[in-house]
Amino acid sequence: MRNVISFLNMKGGVGKTTLCKEIGYYLSRNGKKVLLIDVDPQGNLTQSIFEKYNYKHHYETETERNRKFQVCTATISNVFDYTSVVEGVKESDFILKLDDYLSIIPGDLNAVFFERSGGGSESENAIKNFIEDFKIRESYDYILMDCPPTFSFYTTAALLASDFYLSPIHPDSYSVLGIDLLFQVVERLKKVYRDRFKTTPLDHLGVIFTNIPRDASISIGMRKMMGDIRGSQTLDELEVNFFKEVFQTNREFNKRIDYFIADSNSDYSYSNLRKIIIEFDSVITNANVVSQI
Ligand SMILES: Nc1ncnc2c1ncn2[C@@H]1O[C@H](COP(=O)(O)OP(=O)(O)OP(=O)(O)O)[C@@H](O)[C@H]1O
Ligand SMILES: [Mg+2]
Repeated sequence: MRNVISFLNMKGGVGKTTLCKEIGYYLSRNGKKVLLIDVDPQGNLTQSIFEKYNYKHHYETETERNRKFQVCTATISNVFDYTSVVEGVKESDFILKLDDYLSIIPGDLNAVFFERSGGGSESENAIKNFIEDFKIRESYDYILMDCPPTFSFYTTAALLASDFYLSPIHPDSYSVLGIDLLFQVVERLKKVYRDRFKTTPLDHLGVIFTNIPRDASISIGMRKMMGDIRGSQTLDELEVNFFKEVFQTNREFNKRIDYFIADSNSDYSYSNLRKIIIEFDSVITNANVVSQI
C-alpha cells in the first residue's frame, strides 16, 4: 500500500502546513485513519494540533500548569534516534494518539540538533525504518508529512520514507523556477539513494495553488499569473500535474492556529476542501494502479 505523502516545496510560506493539516484532519473526521508527521523543526503543524487538543511537550510557566494541558512525550526526535525495535520501545514514544482516527508524530525543537550533527545515514533512514518496522502503512489509511521549506536532512529523511510528494504553491513570478528546482533536487536524491527507489518509487502528485481568493475577487494579475504557470513549457516538459481545484483563501487561518475547516461552519471552504480531497484521492489511486502494471 502506497499511502505516505510529503507536502514539499523549498519555498517558504506557500501553505504546506495549512494544507497538510486540513487534508489530514478532514480525512480523519470522515472515517479515515490518519497519521500526521511533523518533520519541520519550526513545528507549526504540531502547534496547531497541540492547541486544538490541549497538549504541550512540557509546561513552560505556572499558568500553563494551571490550564491543565496534557503532557505529550511522543516526538519526532525519538524517531530520528530510532534504529530498530528493541525491548522497551513503545509506539507511544513516537506517536501521540489524539482519537480513534487521528494521530501525530509531533515536531520538536530538539530535532534541530539532528541537522547540526549532520544527521548521518542512520537518522536519514530513521522515518523510513520506523514506518516499516511498526507497520505504519498498514495501520493507517494516510500518512501525511509536513516538510520544512529547505532542502535538508529533514526533507531527505521525509522523502526516503515517502511514496508521494505534493507541492503547494502560491503563484508568483518565481513559481516555475521553484518547481523546476524542486524536481532537480528530487531527481538528484533519487540518484544518490538509487537502491531505495529501485524497490518503491517516489511519485509527484502534483502542484496545487494555495491561498487563492474566491473567483469573484481574484485579480486579473493573479489569474494571468496562474495561467502562465499552468501553461509554462518548462513544467509541461516535466509533465507536472496541476490540481484543477485550488485551495481558496480563508481568513480564519490568520486569526486562530486551532482553526480547522472540517469543524467550521464555512460551507464554502468545506466544499472546496472536499473537492481537493476527491482529486487528491484520485491522483493517488491512479498512481498506485500505474505502479502495479
Ligand atoms: N488557504 C489559505 N487562506 C488563508 N491563509 C492561508 C491559506 N493557506 C495558508 N495561509 C496562510 O499563509 C501563511 C503560510 O502558510 P503555511 O504556514 O501553511 O505555509 P508553509 O509553506 O507551511 O510555510 P513554511 O515554509 O514556513 O513552513 C500562514 O499564515 C497561513 O495561515
Ligand atoms: Mg510549514
